[in-house]
Amino acid sequence: MSEILTPHDSGAMLIDGKAGAAAVDAAARAAAAELAGALGRQPALAVVLVGEDPASQVYVRNKIRRTEAAGMRSIEHRLPAETTEHDLLTLVAALNADDGVDGILVQLPLPAHIDARLVVESIDPAKDVDGLTARSAGALVQGAPGLRPCTPSGCVWLARQALGDLTGKSVVVIGRSILVGKPAALLFLEQNCTVTLAHSRTADLAKVCAGADILVPAVGRPEMVRGDWIKPGATVIDVGINRVEADGKARLVGDVAFDEAIESAGFITPVPGGVGPMTIAMLLVNTCAAAAARAGLSTPNALSDILGG
Ligand code: GUN
Repeated sequence: MSEILTPHDSGAMLIDGKAGAAAVDAAARAAAAELAGALGRQPALAVVLVGEDPASQVYVRNKIRRTEAAGMRSIEHRLPAETTEHDLLTLVAALNADDGVDGILVQLPLPAHIDARLVVESIDPAKDVDGLTARSAGALVQGAPGLRPCTPSGCVWLARQALGDLTGKSVVVIGRSILVGKPAALLFLEQNCTVTLAHSRTADLAKVCAGADILVPAVGRPEMVRGDWIKPGATVIDVGINRVEADGKARLVGDVAFDEAIESAGFITPVPGGVGPMTIAMLLVNTCAAAAARAGLSTPNALSDILGG
């Protein structure tokens, strides 16, 4: 297996999310095999895609491929963009009722005529492998057992690969979305970090960031975080994936100006190949955790470091 931390010429260490995701996928594969023995069937993840959004098509294709590679059953529902809210709710209800389905993921964004909150809330919390229902979010706030959102879980896991125990670290998360910013703040708090949740209205954001041992930008603004915002030696976990055009060519950049940041950072995730691949890895972990919990089984040993850390 390849190394997750690799030295860069600047002296910083790169945190390789592709290698990290491969390690977590392998743990999910071991857990899925153990669960398949206990359940008499493979753990199963249902993915629902409505419409033709190109980025969503890529995500869903990758989810299906990696679910199957991990020895799980992938159930796929591709619905036309004109699908009614009622029909989508009916499908989610059928997946909730199907005992052979362990996890349900409705790919976001949904077409504008569908109320995404209503659809997400209709998912059985026991199958909410995205961790997006109010029940899952409430469990996270209370520190109660429950399924945690995948991208922020991936951020915490990568930070732990770089730094080990995170107790006492100062964390600045930038962005307050339900998908990433808010749950990331709570997950780092659960790791005994001191967390600041910054956002677009934060006064003197550069100064706030300069106090961070761990900086987690999740705003979707290309290269907004400059090198001089970063405390020397800090760990940078860049959640942004932004497509930009330069010299007629499209490329992906993060929320961090990487070439500047790498001169100050101690550890930094690249874009692409940093946080991005971790989301599906954590989805596979959550699917196994959901399968175990629904069957009254304890969490497979292969996942205890990932979920218990
Ligand atoms: N669209 C982009 N990221 C995600 C995700 O993590 N979950 C869902 N359901 N949709 C997404």
